Amino acid sequence: MLTVEENQLMTRVGPGTPMGEVLRRYWVPATLSMELPVPDCPPVRVRILGEDLVAFRDTNGEVGLLDNFCPHRRASLFFGRNEESGLRCVYHGWKFDINGDCVDMPSEPAESNFKDKVKITAYPAYEAGGVVWAYMGPGALIPPRMTFEVLGLPDDQVMVNRNYSLCNFVQAMEGSIDSSHIGFLHRNLNELDMSDFDDGTDKLGFPSTKMSTKIRGAFRNPYLSVQKTDYGVRYAGIRTTPNGHQHLRITANIFPFFNMTSRLPDQGVGLSCFMPVDDETHYRYNISGKLDRTFTPEERERRGASPRGVDVNGQPLRGKWNDFLIDRKMQKEVSYTGITGVNTQDQAITESMEPITDRWNEHLGTTDAAIIHVRRALVNAARQYQEGDEPPPIPADIMHDIRAHEEIVPADADWRLYGAFAGEDREVTV
Ligand code: FES
Ligand SMILES: [Fe+2]
Repeated sequence: MLTVEENQLMTRVGPGTPMGEVLRRYWVPATLSMELPVPDCPPVRVRILGEDLVAFRDTNGEVGLLDNFCPHRRASLFFGRNEESGLRCVYHGWKFDINGDCVDMPSEPAESNFKDKVKITAYPAYEAGGVVWAYMGPGALIPPRMTFEVLGLPDDQVMVNRNYSLCNFVQAMEGSIDSSHIGFLHRNLNELDMSDFDDGTDKLGFPSTKMSTKIRGAFRNPYLSVQKTDYGVRYAGIRTTPNGHQHLRITANIFPFFNMTSRLPDQGVGLSCFMPVDDETHYRYNISGKLDRTFTPEERERRGASPRGVDVNGQPLRGKWNDFLIDRKMQKEVSYTGITGVNTQDQAITESMEPITDRWNEHLGTTDAAIIHVRRALVNAARQYQEGDEPPPIPADIMHDIRAHEEIVPADADWRLYGAFAGEDREVTV
């Protein structure tokens, strides 16, 4: 539970707010590269951290991210012409390049040097993992480009999607580290009985995907343990397997808003990011990578963009406005929620808490330890910023090697010794 004041501190992200300024010290996702498919293509609207911007790809293929409002008389550059390495405002023709310099001002006399005095806000941007990353903080504090493993893979080994949701970014991130909900919210009532299934992988090492499903189905209430690290926290969901071993699912949460959910080695690597559009809405970006192969067309199809009028589960578009088309008969007979699709189930529940949940009315239990740690880190960073301290950088020396992890280990083993940076001094047990 948080106080009213802490809740406010943690969730408000506009310019000048403590949390907004904390987030402006990191590279943040602005849009998808595929929104700007070719040089000189139409510009797109971008709203992030409560600021209205416009993104465009110039003639050289570089992405620019400018204030939406022209500095002349404040027309929207969304209507602009993207031409010859710059975006031209269609009201009076002023033209800006990706650095925010005014490179043409045809409405002023040719001898005027007024254009050299006018700039538009332009944020540095680069592309990796199919995402346009932006930096919105002070120029002197710009961090190096990120080196997360999935961001360094070739384009055809990476897949990215994003989902818009009507709630604050922290609320959704809390959902993704709240692993105790999986056995409830996402449960199917008529699950196949897997008690007879055995492919021999309930032994030390990596279980098959199917064995992992069996273990999770057989043991619904994992013991959760949290460990503080240099980059944030990692935590384990721990189960006993049918053969009496210990099954670990380790998730990494990287400050301020990145998550790597536990996965088996053959499932590749992934990175999620919860990016505020403003205080009450956000985009969830999911980047997946294969380390040793490309994605098949079927895999891309399955997780790709949904046809108009239909969501990724083939359902008519669903949202808060139609109660996500909850089917009460299905809820009695088929699934815990009566809502189709894991992501939609998550979205329905996190949005049901209202755009910014009243955390002072909560009653947190033992399964909420990871959430408590993540909140504490966010609130502390906002407070420290108010006192003049900059938030912690993502440690550059280990960023590439941070990974989630899943493994079957001996029954008496310490989970902290498994996965990336296992047992290193840098980790502090809490
Ligand atoms: S408002 Fe953009 S050029 Fe005048
Ligand atoms: Fe979930």
